[in-house]
Amino acid sequence: MSRAKLSREHKRQLGQFLTPPFIARAIVERLCISPSERVLEPALGSGAFVFALLDALGEHLTPARLLRWVQTHLYGCEIDVQIMERFVAEWRARGLGVLPKNIVRGDFFRWLPPSCDQRAALNRHLYFRSPLAFFDLIIGNPPFGGSIDPLIQDELDQIFGTRNGMKIKKETYAFFLVKCLDMLKLGGRLCFICSDTVLTIPTMLGLRYLLQEQCEIEISRVPGQFEETTQNLVLITLVKHGRKASHIRVFGDRAKTKDVEVTPNLSWRVNGEYARYFEGQTLGDKFVASSGMTTGNNALFLRKIVNGLIAEPYEFSFAQEPITLAGEVERARLGKLSDAQRLTIREREQRGEMRRIVHWEQRQTPLAVPVPHADYRFYNKATSAVVYAAPEWVIFWRDQGAYVYTFKKTGKWYLHGVGGRPYFEKEGITWSLIAPRLYTRWLPPGYILDSGAPCAFLKPGVEHDELFFVMGWTLTDLCNRILKQVINHTRNIQSKDFERLPYPDWVPPRSKDDAIAFIKELVHKAMTGKRFNADHPSLQSLNEFYKYQPRRLRPVVAYTTASAQARLF
Ligand SMILES: C[S@@+](CC[C@H](N)C(=O)[O-])C[C@H]1O[C@@H](n2cnc3c(N)ncnc32)[C@H](O)[C@@H]1O
Repeated sequence: MSRAKLSREHKRQLGQFLTPPFIARAIVERLCISPSERVLEPALGSGAFVFALLDALGEHLTPARLLRWVQTHLYGCEIDVQIMERFVAEWRARGLGVLPKNIVRGDFFRWLPPSCDQRAALNRHLYFRSPLAFFDLIIGNPPFGGSIDPLIQDELDQIFGTRNGMKIKKETYAFFLVKCLDMLKLGGRLCFICSDTVLTIPTMLGLRYLLQEQCEIEISRVPGQFEETTQNLVLITLVKHGRKASHIRVFGDRAKTKDVEVTPNLSWRVNGEYARYFEGQTLGDKFVASSGMTTGNNALFLRKIVNGLIAEPYEFSFAQEPITLAGEVERARLGKLSDAQRLTIREREQRGEMRRIVHWEQRQTPLAVPVPHADYRFYNKATSAVVYAAPEWVIFWRDQGAYVYTFKKTGKWYLHGVGGRPYFEKEGITWSLIAPRLYTRWLPPGYILDSGAPCAFLKPGVEHDELFFVMGWTLTDLCNRILKQVINHTRNIQSKDFERLPYPDWVPPRSKDDAIAFIKELVHKAMTGKRFNADHPSLQSLNEFYKYQPRRLRPVVAYTTASAQARLF
């Protein structure tokens, strides 16, 4: 790997994109920091925030008092040696004297204020007994998408991975936020530049709940552009009160916490207009949605259909391979196996046990196979077509998928499962995982499902026509606005996002029947060759069928951790 590439990879692993000093200065100015405050920058970088703080305080303190403040009130941590050297060089260049003992190079996840028992750093019990409510201000730009030391990942997950009975995603910025919240005094402030995924994405639901239960929250724009990242960023400012606030401020608007709580993902992008759609059922009440599979090697198993034929380059068979401890360690998560697992595998190795693996050989000339064929199934890959798309791919599926399942089970990865398997070959609706809006289309029975195109299936007992009614709804502009504004504003549209969409129970029965007939007609037209895209006038006319009309008042279910969990898992 080239030096530049290595350096890029190193920065990516550390989530290292430094805040331009002018942005740090603009943020610090707004905070009006007082010299009585004890301050932490948990991921210093080259010190943009620390130096902005010192400049701001330097306007009010004599140099001698500033140096005293630095030694007694300033805390910081940075994992990367090189960037720390840059920080220290700047520190010296500014004539700030010796580095305070509270500014250290190290992993923030192993770090506690020096007054704590350092041996306690990774012990859950002692962690919570240590003086965590310690800082008046925590400021910075924690790493986003960085790697967490594999040696302590599982312990960290135990410490930070659950709050209020809800999952906190194992993601560097989420764990930084949780640890920093623990370290903040009541009345203390936290101000972080942070990925905008904090606003809506379902995997951050537990984090949003934790923060809104304890803090006053303000989300604002970052005052300036970053050159080192294209990630969308926001500035999150928290004041820890230890109780729930009635509002969250988001880009100058006030979202009522009770409106946030009515959305299944606790969306911070909701407002009064959107909250009303969530007063009834969600699509998850009628559908179960699922992701599909990854084969582990698409080139090996997937074939493109061309004029009703596929070209099969391989001859497949099964072979045997010995089970060995070395092989199993290579396949294990983080290379870790328990003592009991090691023992069992060693015994199997000693007994000379074998496992079945897939063997393939290149044919001299690819075999032309007409499809449909008993050895293949249609394969549902993502496309931007809506309503219906003729099959374009098949997957080698001899013996009910035995070759693909075996390959997945014996590959050199630790996730050996096959996503979506219970739904293979069922009728449903499907869409593209990565898309600016729902490209929904009818999925006829008989398909194997790809992870790039999640699908939804009717729950038992739900009328078949709901498939078409809901498909029509998901093609409307209103549904897509709700999806992208409230449910998940990123480009990903996961199966759970679909389940969290409101069910349009405001549509009166007559319009519902008309919508179903209309959609069935569209599917018929698409199956006989007509192509639709999301802007097609026929699809635009769907908006009328699903127009919102106030429903009769129904009781709003109080938001509890239990109800949140029930929706989440
Ligand atoms: C997004 S950068 C921001 C740096 C600095 N706060 C700024 O605003 O310029 C995140 C920093 O966190 C550091 N970092 C990553 N993981 C860390 C960890 N576990 N403990 C401490 N620092 C970490 C990276 O090396 C990087 O310097």
